[in-house]
Parts: sequence; structure tokens; C-alpha cells
Amino acid sequence: MKIQHLIDLNDYPVEWWKSVVDLGEEIKNDPAKFAHECDGKVMATLFYEPSTRTQMSFQTAMIRLGGKIIGFDNPANSSVSKGESIKDTTKIVSSYADILVMRHPVAGSAKAAALTAECPVINAGDGGHLHPTQTLTDLLTLQIEKKTLSGLTVGMCGDLVNGRTVHSLCKALSRFKDNKFIFISTPELRMPAYIKDVITASGSTFEEVDTLEEAIGKLDVLYMTRIQQERFASHEEYLAQKNTYVLDRIKMQDAKKDMIVLHPLPRVDEITVDVDDDSRAMYFTQAKYGVYVRMALVLTMLKNQTPVELLKGSEYKSVCCGNPNCVTNLEAYLPKSFRASGDETLLECEYCDERKLI
Ligand code: NCD
Repeated sequence: MKIQHLIDLNDYPVEWWKSVVDLGEEIKNDPAKFAHECDGKVMATLFYEPSTRTQMSFQTAMIRLGGKIIGFDNPANSSVSKGESIKDTTKIVSSYADILVMRHPVAGSAKAAALTAECPVINAGDGGHLHPTQTLTDLLTLQIEKKTLSGLTVGMCGDLVNGRTVHSLCKALSRFKDNKFIFISTPELRMPAYIKDVITASGSTFEEVDTLEEAIGKLDVLYMTRIQQERFASHEEYLAQKNTYVLDRIKMQDAKKDMIVLHPLPRVDEITVDVDDDSRAMYFTQAKYGVYVRMALVLTMLKNQTPVELLKGSEYKSVCCGNPNCVTNLEAYLPKSFRASGDETLLECEYCDERKLI
């Protein structure tokens, strides 16, 4: 079905994201002007995974635009608990609503939903894979607080392997000129290879370091992340990583006077509360900006229907994605679609981006 969805920002040209971010800024400056833009419209929020900011900021966005909301935030209270597939739930709910926002613990789930949905689908986080609307929030925050999206040295710290926010943000910032990345993590939590390849292909550069101390003085932006307890194979593996990075007032002394600290939140213990009073701590403001940018996104998606092609690769009926947390290993009806490298020995799953040698 030819419908506009937001699964991955990279399905759109940079001008499209810029127009959403610019509209977000316009809404921030005069929200009342947009109060009736979605009168009579319904948004469904299907949250299969916990959320505070993403879910509530989407709901607030729709209500502030004059629309109404339906949905669930605990799949146990829906037919999901009876074994209903993503396909069936999405098919039905998308026939009730004008726009559907979905968060799910499995990578590629939003794309799977979009394949059968009758209305636009927005990916509000698919497992450890992507989180494009957090990235729109981050871009609006950078545009307002740093006055630019280019020429920035951005440090990303914490759980870079499982953090979908940093994956989406890297893909996005590498599309702007002269951004440099410093990845601060333990060897176990390094940024996935496919994200590093996107950065290199774009002409941006990255380095990887083990400690916050060796990077903090060079940064324009420090993006802290939580260690994603729920995505570890065992509790022991999580405990081995817990508390590795803690940003405190002492470390902030080595940072530039105009560096800003971002965090998608929730914070666990990676930023001490005394940093909150530092004027460079921007994470609560960032969460507030999330409402404006989501208002802009909803307006854009409801007004200009520019369909995106969801599967551009080829179907390989006998190949399974090697990622056990990929939606194709959960919902058997999905076409197993891969992008192939030149000699067809390296396949990249079109749902979760995991690579496989065949
Ligand atoms: C993030 C998420 O859910 O990926 N939070 C958010 O959307 N604001 C980060 C996290 O859970 O650590």
C-alpha cells in the first residue's frame, strides 16, 4: 500500500527532516497557532515496551494539535496477550486511526507493521535498532541550543551497541557536513559495524575511546546513554557493564564552557543529579522539545503523503536473518528481504540491518 511511514529517517532526504525540525521550532515559538490543525483526527499509540517521554510526548503532541488518542501501553491488556501477531493488531488498529505510533522490543517491528497498515506508521523505537523520532528531538535541540547541525564534535557514551537513540542520531548527523564522532564505551558495548560504515561512507569520521576523561575536553556535545539492562543476554553481563560511566561535576570541569549534555532519558546512574544544575545540562529541555518536533512530524505526515518504499532489496526464501531479535524470526509470514553486496555473499536484512555472509 502506498502510504507515508517513518521507519528510518534515512528513507527521506535531509531536506525533509530539516523541514520537520524547522516546523518544530516554529511550533515552539507559537504553539497556539497550531491548536486546531488535527481537529477530528485520531492517533493510535501501540507501546509494547515501557515508555514515559516518547509515548506521552506523542500523546501530548496530538492533543495540542486538537486530535484524540487511542492505544495501549501494556500489551498484556490487549489481544497481544492472546498471541495476536503484529500484522493483525496493526491491520485493525490502523483502520481505526489516522496515524499509528508503535514501540516494540523487536528490531524491524515498525517496518513489519507498516507493511500491512492502512495509515501512516511512525517507529517510536524497534528493539535496539532505531529511534528516529528521538533523533528529530535531538536535532531540534541542537538547532536551538547549538545553532547548527554541522561541524560538531559529538561524544556518545555508554551502551552504544544496544542504544537505538545513538544509532539513529549517528546516521542522521553523518548526513550533515563536518561532524566528528567520539564513541566512549567498553569494548563489549561498541557501536555496531553497520553504523560505523554509514559514518565512513558519508565522509564523517569517528574514533573510539574507553574513558570519558580522554574525550570530554574535545566535545561540543556529550550524548550520555543508559546501559540497556533489558537487552543483555544475562544479568551477569549487565552487572559487568553497570556503573562504568558516570558524568559528575568533577568531569564537567574539563568540558568546554559551551558543551551541552544530552540524554534521551531515562537516566539511571550515568549522570549524577548535581549536574542537573549546570547550565550545560540540556536533557530536560531536550525532552520538552520532543513535543514540538512530534507535533511537526504528525502534521507533516498527515498533510503531505509522500509514500516511501519499505522493501527495496530482494526476497531470499531460504535465508533467515542471523539476528535472533529480528522481527522476521518472530513473524514467519514476512518476506525475508535483504540488500545484497556486489557479489551477493554479504546480505543485509532490510528489517534490522544485521549482516550475514552466505
Ligand atoms: C530511549 C529509548 O527508549 O530508546 N528513551 C527514550 O525514548 N526517550 C533511551 C532508553 O531507554 O535508554
